[in-house]
Amino acid sequence: MDWGMKNRLSRIIKPDTGHTVMLAVDHGYFLGPTHKLENAGATIEPLLPYADALMLTRGILRTSVDAGSDIPVVLRVSGGTSIIGENLSNEDITTSMEEAVRLNVAAVALSIFVGTEHEQQTLVNLSYLVDIGNEYGIPVLAVTAVGKELGKRDVRFLALSCRIAAELGASFVKTYYCDEFEKVVECCPVPVVIAGGPKLETELDALQMAHDAIQKGAAGVDMGRNIWQSDNPVPMIKAVRAVVHEKATPQQALDTFNKSKSGS
Ligand code: 5RP
Repeated sequence: MDWGMKNRLSRIIKPDTGHTVMLAVDHGYFLGPTHKLENAGATIEPLLPYADALMLTRGILRTSVDAGSDIPVVLRVSGGTSIIGENLSNEDITTSMEEAVRLNVAAVALSIFVGTEHEQQTLVNLSYLVDIGNEYGIPVLAVTAVGKELGKRDVRFLALSCRIAAELGASFVKTYYCDEFEKVVECCPVPVVIAGGPKLETELDALQMAHDAIQKGAAGVDMGRNIWQSDNPVPMIKAVRAVVHEKATPQQALDTFNKSKSGS
């Protein structure tokens, strides 16, 4: 792997633990003003010290993140659809690699929609992005999207999607946690991080999911709603860090959460 590519990836996936806590705040690119992300800057700012990388669009980066920050940026560069539009899978590349370089990003991210009518378009877009990313030494994160069909999140679909993403040259892949998640990781030759998905009932549920993903080989999390839709987002990201970087059990991480919440 080229030095620049390796260096950028090591800014995201920390070499000392081999893991990462990415904070996902890109939801507005198709959801608009998502609950608790209406004022993105206010949501992001207190969480930044605890995130290893920040995943977002150029619009929120430019308007809502201090350019003096040294947080590695994973720039979402796919989109073109909305939650009220006809078809979420009809995404294209929305941001050029030159723009990504201007923004000094550590990686770019694009969704693929395997098994949909726009499968080919999104997979060819991924391949194109990998080619251009290789020219600049910028890694590509492929996101195995399911659109509105959350029920698609099973091991067969996710293993298929992750493997295709890796075959097409993605440097790392973001997917969902599922039963038999270890099979997703085993079949994917590049690091896999998990999204959190819609907010779970309790913090413990989300910590359990992150824990199980790490135990089964995930390189980390790229989590959004289960952190910033918590009533206590800073304690929550600290607890997620404990699971991802310190091998905490879900219960130990919940103790971290409760201690941080009570200010002790
Ligand atoms: C949307 C995304 C989000 O970044 C991803 O879903 C992670 O956020 P959450 O943990 O809230 O699911 O890629 O397409």
